[in-house]
Amino acid sequence: MEDIKYKVIGICGSLRENSYNKAVLQFMAANSPETLDIQIETIGKFPLFNEDIEKENFPENVKELREKIRKADGLIIVTPEYNNSIPGGLKNAIDWISRKDEEGYPFSKKPIMIAGATTGLTGTSRSQKELRAVLHNINTFPMNKPELFISEADKKVFNNKLVDEKAKEVAVKMLNSFVKWIELIKKY
Ligand SMILES: Cc1cc2nc3c(=O)[nH]c(=O)nc-3n(C[C@H](O)[C@H](O)[C@H](O)COP(=O)(O)O)c2cc1C
Repeated sequence: MEDIKYKVIGICGSLRENSYNKAVLQFMAANSPETLDIQIETIGKFPLFNEDIEKENFPENVKELREKIRKADGLIIVTPEYNNSIPGGLKNAIDWISRKDEEGYPFSKKPIMIAGATTGLTGTSRSQKELRAVLHNINTFPMNKPELFISEADKKVFNNKLVDEKAKEVAVKMLNSFVKWIELIKKY
């Protein structure tokens, strides 16, 4: 058995307990290559971003995730689409983590893999496009391909488990590509 080489943080863009996106992220964590360790973190208790609070200090839970992301070899974001865009909770978390401190920017040059599930037919294509624009601004390296757009997620997730064979196949393929992506970015 190969040793774990890369530690990756997984974030779900939905705060819903029985979230389809959370099920996809959990599938990824359970089916990642042996060299990849995915630790799922939550963003639901972050306060709304406010520069006045930031000036005093980062809230403790924000600080903890900032440090975990700074140390991580990469990040996986699995998110739904809300009104053709990124859910507010996810954008709020990205805004908190995007800010500079004495050690610089936690997101800087991070390899990132994104995916998403929606009950609609477009499979989060619009929110992923918008997410890529945000990730560009915070100087990360989102992996281009393969992509995963899970439409009609209510027919593909049962009892909080991803059961769709095609989605599972693409998710595993993505994770294997992500290992190579991390290795490529590390050389940069
Ligand atoms: C505020 C809101 C806006 C939504 N907007 C969209 C949308 O623009 N496109 C879409 O495909 N689904 C949309 N949906 C439906 C979500 O895809 C669906 O609720 C999905 O299950 C959310 O992901 P989750 O199961 O991980 O919580 C929206 C849902 C909510 C609550």
